[in-house]
Formats: sequence, C-alpha cells, structure tokens
Amino acid sequence: MSDTAWFTEARYGMFIHWGAYSVAGRGEWVMNRERIPYSEYVEKYVRNFKAERYDPAGWAALAARAGMKYMVLTTRHHDGFALWDTRTSDFNAAKMGPKRDLLKPYVEAARAAGLKVGFYFSGADWRHEDYPTAYARDWPKSQEWRDEESRKRFIRYYRAQLEELMSNYGPIDILWYDGCIPGPFDGEAANARVKELQPGILINNRNGPPFDFTCQEQSLKPKDGVWEACLTLNDNWGYHAGDNNWKDAREVIRMLVTAAAKGGNLLLNVGPKADGTLPEESVRILEQAGEWLARNRAFLPDSPRSPFAYNNCGILTWRGRTVYAHLFKAPGPEYCLAEIKNKVLAARWLATGESIPFEQNGARLFFRHIPFPLPDPIAATIAIEVEGVPEPVTEQKTFWVPE
Ligand code: GLC
Repeated sequence: MSDTAWFTEARYGMFIHWGAYSVAGRGEWVMNRERIPYSEYVEKYVRNFKAERYDPAGWAALAARAGMKYMVLTTRHHDGFALWDTRTSDFNAAKMGPKRDLLKPYVEAARAAGLKVGFYFSGADWRHEDYPTAYARDWPKSQEWRDEESRKRFIRYYRAQLEELMSNYGPIDILWYDGCIPGPFDGEAANARVKELQPGILINNRNGPPFDFTCQEQSLKPKDGVWEACLTLNDNWGYHAGDNNWKDAREVIRMLVTAAAKGGNLLLNVGPKADGTLPEESVRILEQAGEWLARNRAFLPDSPRSPFAYNNCGILTWRGRTVYAHLFKAPGPEYCLAEIKNKVLAARWLATGESIPFEQNGARLFFRHIPFPLPDPIAATIAIEVEGVPEPVTEQKTFWVPE
C-alpha cells in the first residue's frame, strides 16, 4: 500500500473525459450505444479529433483556481483510442487524429501547476479483436472470452499498455482503472508490476486487489477506508453538446462538503470538446465554486468522517478542535445547534474570521444574530472551536432522517 496522505489531504480533484468520442458530442459511450463499426468511427470521429486548441496548462490552471489538487485524464477509454503514442496499436493520437502524443503535455502541465497526476485507464477495449464484445448492453462475463488464447493476448496487450504508461511519463500519482473487464484479468499481477514501476502510485479498486482506495460513481455514500466519489457536472462524462443539465456552484460545494463530512474525496468531471476547450459552463461553475473554497478551505484537508447527524440547515464537518457548520439554508436570526457535547470556546465566520456571539446552554448552542439571508449564497460556514476532540451529544445509529 502506498502512502495516501497527499490524497486524503487533497480531497478534491478534476476528472477529465476526453477522446475521439468528444467529436461526436454524445458522451463517451457513443461507439457502443450506436453500434458504430470501427471504420465509421475512424472516419467520422477519430479523423476529426484534432485537439487543435488543446491547452493542458489551461486545464491545470482552472483546476488550481477551482481548488482542486489533482487531475485524472482518460488515457484510453472503452473505445480503445489511446491518447499516447503506444507501440501496441496504431489506434492512438500520435498516429491518427491529432497526430501527437497528448499525454506528455498533460503530465507536464499538471506538474507545473503543482497538481498530482492521474491516469484513467479502461480495462475494456471495444474495438480490440480479442475483447469479447463491442456492443454489449451488459458487462461481458468471464465466460465470454472467445477462447483462452484470446484472453491471454488481450491481457498481454493491456499489460503492455500499462507498462508504457507507467514507464514513459515520469512519476504518476494515480492509476485509475475503469471497469467492464471480463475476468480473469490478472489484475493482481498487473498491480504488482505497476507498483514496481511506480512505487508511490495510488491505485483504485477497479482491477481488484491490491489497491489503495475505493471509488464509486455518482454517489456520496460513505465507505470504510480511503475512498473517492466521482461525479459528473452535467449528466455525462464525455462531452455532450446537448446536455445542459449542469449542477451549479452551490451543488458542487454541497457535494464537496458532503464528501468531506463522510471522510472521502470528490473527483469532479469535466468533458472537454474535441478541440480541447472546456464547455464555458464547466469553467464558470468550477471557478465560482473555487472562489468559495478559497475563502473556506480550512475545513477540508483530511476531514475525518463526521459523527454529527443530520442538521436541518446545513452539514457539519470537523477537523482538529473545530466543528464546521456549513449553512446551506438560512436558519433565520436564531440558529440552535444541538449537536456538540464539548465546551465551545469560540465561533467565527470561516470566510472572514469575524467572530460570532454564541451562548451554550447544555447540549444547545445558540447563535442569535445570524443574517437572513446568509452572507454567502453558496454556503456560510461557522467555525466552532471547542475544548478537546469534538464529540456529538448523541450518536445517531439509524438513518431515518433526511440527508
Ligand atoms: C462509468 C461510465 C464510464 C465512465 C466511468 C467513470 O463507468 O460507463 O464511461 O468513464 O463511469 O467512473
């Protein structure tokens, strides 16, 4: 197991889904969903994938402004098109489409911006002749390999790709496997080799053990151990020209605070267009959320799982000797927080440092001059300094209350 300290301290990263499918503008599953034959995919999409305005330094700068500490880019999604100059196949960005290795500038840009570098890598490859089935509506199963030889060939192929990714781009901080992998897939041997090549790397759980963290999609349910939730900004991972169902900055912060309260990371996705530019909405939303985070970040690094239960005005997180009450809904002038067992020493607005008068009466902590509406339309966070390690008045064991 590698040291996950930087990862839990970071808590927030940028997921980037980008590839030949971005030309279609209908999400990253377009080949499978529309049963597109290889030749048509190449003709319509790969050839038109030019990455002509590709500026990974711009992506990295946005991630940094957004308050994110790492990036994870799709080096190869299920369509099989590699963004790097792989020797294993010509179906890659150096030979087709953009005609250059897109990975190297990404790694350099992320590093230059002080961000950790992650590689997403799909174990599937729809257009590979040994992959069981390109257009399955369910994940292929282990018995669906054509024969033992094709299974072995495919494993040699994906392991050779990993070998390149782990050898040719300097230190890589995260290997983020994706699924639809029909077992047995030699995951354990693959991961052991990855660790030999990149001793400090963190590996997610999608190619089996040994792994360093678990990941989950579109869900912020707490997990044991080190975990990360990946979520989309609209309803798609890859660029979708017609998907305007954007989350706003407030929802983004709510997701981040929720992850923090449950002791996990948020990997938030953007889907750049084929030319490499990001949809304007994504930029705006991430920047707005980033401005909030810049003022309020203190609650985030390494935030432990919170023992504090549902609160009808906001979400409670804690770190060290401080409980953070993130108010997403204005309680009115009087806010009564009946959660904290410890003696309260001080309270202040996290964003400004301005102290807030309070009165503690047993289990009930009163703030009587909370502005209505709140001073911040995203969320106003009260940092409550306590004596000792924060403890809840009562532990909640059931989950009947709303989230
Ligand atoms: C789902 C999608 C895949 C995406 C992944 C991200 O598995 O099918 O396209 O890359 O989520 O976690």
